Amino acid sequence: MNNIRVWDLPLRLFHWLLVICVAGAYFCVKSAGITEGWLSETGTDWMTWHSRFGYAVLTLILFRLVWGIIGPYYSRFTQFVVGPRTIAAYLRTAKWTAGHNPLGAWSVIAMLLAFGVQAGSGLFASDDILFEGPLSDLNPALSRFFNSVHHASEWVLIALVVLHLCAIAYYSLLRRQPLIRAMVTGDIPAEQHLPAEQPAQSQDNAATRLRAAIVLLLCAAIVFWLSQF
Ligand code: HEM
Ligand code: HEM
Repeated sequence: MNNIRVWDLPLRLFHWLLVICVAGAYFCVKSAGITEGWLSETGTDWMTWHSRFGYAVLTLILFRLVWGIIGPYYSRFTQFVVGPRTIAAYLRTAKWTAGHNPLGAWSVIAMLLAFGVQAGSGLFASDDILFEGPLSDLNPALSRFFNSVHHASEWVLIALVVLHLCAIAYYSLLRRQPLIRAMVTGDIPAEQHLPAEQPAQSQDNAATRLRAAIVLLLCAAIVFWLSQF
């Protein structure tokens, strides 16, 4: 057995679907603002597509929060969210660890929170003309607040993604850790220098995937319910 299963299939699908949906939401909202050229002539209702991708992001983040509690070993928050002492020890030795490294773990939490808040605040957002989120009429003060959060956070999100990509490039190119391959196949080679106390594998069988599908359906149902207000 030469490989260690680190990322279960649901976690990997979550990651790559999140990338597609975040990019989709961003592309659509920017296309909605373009008034000339072929993009504006396609007749696409860009804001409706922006909200659809946004609902998908909200569903995925909800799924990930539950999966961080009931998912397999390396997907659990308790496995990778660690305190400052462990982070300091990691920075001293910089040893390869299976799963998220202690420092990267905090950027994972920051991204999950930031995109969760972005998609959640979108429910209250409005462009004051044609398109509004389903909860934008609930309470004017709340709506104004979340609308400004939704608009102000753009550069925070971009900064987090750029930081994420730089960190992945650093570990892949300079430290020669096959992180991207692991996020595609789920596995890391066993000969990577794993600390002795971390031999665990993530469970990734039919039962795991069925459990994930049920959680995802429940999350999608909650978001669908919110979208119908
Ligand atoms: C919009 C763009 C992206 C977002 C929002 C994003 C978000 C995330 C999140 C939330 C995680 C943590 C996974 C989890 O445990 O839940 C993660 C991990 C990861 N992402 Fe991304 N990602 C993006 C783009 C990319 C791209 C383009 C690549 C590859 C070139 C990539 C490679 C990875 C890898 C390798 C990990 C695992 C890191 C580790 O081993 O600790 N991501 N990403
Ligand atoms: C992670 C998911 C989302 C991302 C990354 C995102 C991103 C953005 C950004 C960057 C803007 C500002 C565009 C600009 O001023 O140029 C925006 C505006 C907006 N978004 Fe989202 N959004 C997301 C989810 C949602 C959702 C779920 C909804 C509603 C269901 C929504 C509704 C709106 C509305 C109504 C605007 C105002 C458009 C305007 O002022 O012209 N968004 N979004």
